[in-house]
Amino acid sequence: MPPFVLLFLCIWMGRAVVLGSNDIYKDLFQNYTKELLPTWDVPTPLKLSINAALISIVSFAELEEKIITTMSFSLNWTDSRLSWNPSLYNNIYLLTLPSHTVWLPYLHISNSVNDVKPIGQEANFYAIVTSPGAVYWTPGGVFEAQCAPDVSNFPFDTQFCSFTILMWGMPAGEVEYISNSNVPDLTYYYPNSDWTLTGTQQSVIKGNYSSTFFVGLYIKRKPTYYVVTVILPTLMFCLMNPLIFCLPVESGERISLGMTILLAYAIFLTIVSASIPAKSDPLCIILLVLVLIMMISGLIVILTIVSSYYYYMEDISHANTRLRRLTSRFKQNQVENFNEEGNKKSNLNSLSGKDLSKTLDIIFCIISFVSFIGILSAYFLYVLIV
Ligand SMILES: *[C@@H]1O[C@H](CO)[C@@H](O)[C@H](O)[C@H]1NC(C)=O
Ligand SMILES: *[C@@H]1O[C@H](CO)[C@@H](O)[C@H](O)[C@H]1NC(C)=O
Ligand SMILES: *[C@@H]1O[C@H](CO)[C@@H](O)[C@H](O)[C@H]1NC(C)=O
Repeated sequence: MPPFVLLFLCIWMGRAVVLGSNDIYKDLFQNYTKELLPTWDVPTPLKLSINAALISIVSFAELEEKIITTMSFSLNWTDSRLSWNPSLYNNIYLLTLPSHTVWLPYLHISNSVNDVKPIGQEANFYAIVTSPGAVYWTPGGVFEAQCAPDVSNFPFDTQFCSFTILMWGMPAGEVEYISNSNVPDLTYYYPNSDWTLTGTQQSVIKGNYSSTFFVGLYIKRKPTYYVVTVILPTLMFCLMNPLIFCLPVESGERISLGMTILLAYAIFLTIVSASIPAKSDPLCIILLVLVLIMMISGLIVILTIVSSYYYYMEDISHANTRLRRLTSRFKQNQVENFNEEGNKKSNLNSLSGKDLSKTLDIIFCIISFVSFIGILSAYFLYVLIV
């Protein structure tokens, strides 16, 4: 067959299809009123199949208490006014129409934080109509919903956010939602860099006034950023803080180092408190831990001052007897060591303020070290359990 004949055939057949479509379009829509429900003239409820597909989690804003996601909804229902006999129309089984030409459900997200707008009505998503009158429509969009975060385990927290979808104002019994799966479709899901999707659910909830379609998402924060910027530096500063007592008093650097470390904790506290909503209930545990660490660090500064106070004291006879006995034991040990080396002899009875201050340093260093380790290990145990 010469090529131009083929070409002609193709064009002619295409014309036939277009003509057929035109006919079918005219016939279907001649008496069609898209404002009326497909079941407006029958007493049965409209059966509306609805399934969600999660495309991405755009962001979760803890401070504004909202989640932004991209989702699409697969909807299908039967509009008997849009059925035809394919054998009368060139065996056309399927029509793709701009969605605004047919009746569409007005679905709203009731916990939206934006304007309440019907899903998919302002954009043109195509609707597919098949010959028995089944309409398939898959609108999508970026949806923002209110989601109050529970930050008590920050930055190891998991949040649960939900979207409640309903036909606002539709009387109960007019529409019946059907969902054929209890999880949203994740085929097109694109992972988020801050949050891991750990669980999903979807269901139809029957209420007295109107049933609703419900989509729930469990998202877990990726904690690496806060571990690197807050938890690891805090750990290092905690291990460093008691070493202030090992610095010589004469260097005069003890108080300034203590204050510097104290201020460093304040910076970590700011980073954490800037990332979570200001809420008292439930309290964020890491904030509590940071405040406790800051209090111990403040105490270390005070104890450093106490120890320095004794250092320059000539006469320590008024000091606590038990403390003096302890000091003398420490010193004795030292002297015995010296004696073994045979280097030096010392007067056991003359205790100076310096000796007392050294003893205090050792005691304070151990106490502060133990309390830091205690707080940190309690926190890490808690994190592991949660
Ligand atoms: C539309 O309605 C008119 C008047 O009721 C009727 O004559 C006509 O056949 C209808 N058209 C179709 C395609 O049903
Ligand atoms: C929607 O489509 C699915 C799959 O094609 C079908 O099983 C279901 O019955 C349809 N729902 C309605 C209400 O027609
Ligand atoms: C629905 O109505 C029934 C009876 O009127 C009532 O007992 C029930 O608590 C209502 N449920 C809701 C969710 O309002």
